[in-house]
Amino acid sequence: MDQDIFYSIRMRASAGNRHVSGAERIISSNKLDATVQELVTRARNRKTAPEQIAITIDRLGNLPISTLIALDVVTLNTPDMTTGRSAASRILHSLGISEQSVMTSLYLLSNGAAPFGLNMRGAMIIDALTGERMETDHERGVRASRFDWTDESLDAITRKLAAIGLTHFRTHEALALATKVAHAPGIIAELCWSDEPDYTAGYVASPSIGYVRFPILKLQDDPRGGRVFFVDRKTLNMEAFIHYLQFEPVLIVDGGKCRPPVEPEQYFTR
Ligand code: COA
Ligand code: AMP
Repeated sequence: MDQDIFYSIRMRASAGNRHVSGAERIISSNKLDATVQELVTRARNRKTAPEQIAITIDRLGNLPISTLIALDVVTLNTPDMTTGRSAASRILHSLGISEQSVMTSLYLLSNGAAPFGLNMRGAMIIDALTGERMETDHERGVRASRFDWTDESLDAITRKLAAIGLTHFRTHEALALATKVAHAPGIIAELCWSDEPDYTAGYVASPSIGYVRFPILKLQDDPRGGRVFFVDRKTLNMEAFIHYLQFEPVLIVDGGKCRPPVEPEQYFTR
């Protein structure tokens, strides 16, 4: 990447107290104006008209930008929520996450992990052994930020994902987020499903298994969703973990392998 000045540019749109849309880029100075335009357009194109659109631009200055290769992607063709969650749990167990921890996470994501059964504004941090929640604020959690694809890698991953039938912009955004998270110091795996009522897909991700996507991890029209970052409490430095996730810039410079969808039996008998 050219030695240029880079900026983190972030958009969040809201209506009243409700978060409507959020997206971010890491770009060089010559793309600043066009990117502001792109993010404002993105916010305005949501079904819910935003009452406020906030754009934040931070010059990254001398901050080192880490470069990563995206996680490999595969979709497990699980036909419904029950089989999807069961396969996701099986994968999490295979990564050393305890039954207790997986059950707690599924329960919290299904019922709203914030107080009063609401969605959180970020992810839970869960001890992979005991299932104990470790994030201090159960409404906010922790949000991964300051990550993006390079222009070239975005073109490449868009083509690779389209070739396996994944054309929704959420997929490459979630993949970028999951790739940053998978490289956090002390992380074991991530589990996610969206809070968008009409977006039922979700994933489990880790460096060793990659990004394993499930078409249905919740029922259609369910407005609850969230993210869990499973950690190894024994080795975790919480401060370094949160600092990496929130502030350390990451650019994804290449896509990983994108495999065509597989049946669960095929996947588990590899
Ligand atoms: N849900 C609810 N509220 C949110 C939110 C979210 N996802 N993201 C931001 N907010 C609101 C909160 O009130 C937040 O205050 P808090 O820190 O007390 O929770 C406030 O906006 C400021 O958030 P902050 O993260 O400081 O704003 P930002 O402008 O730096 O970044 C985002 C906003 C949305 C771009 C960033 O948080 C983010 O999520 N980036 C990743 C986007 C992405 O690619 N997601 C992939 C999903 S598939
Ligand atoms: P989304 O994928 O945008 O539908 O978000 C699903 C859930 O993930 C939200 O309800 C939040 O709990 C959580 N979340 C949203 N943004 C982030 C982020 N940047 N980092 C970690 N968790 C997030």
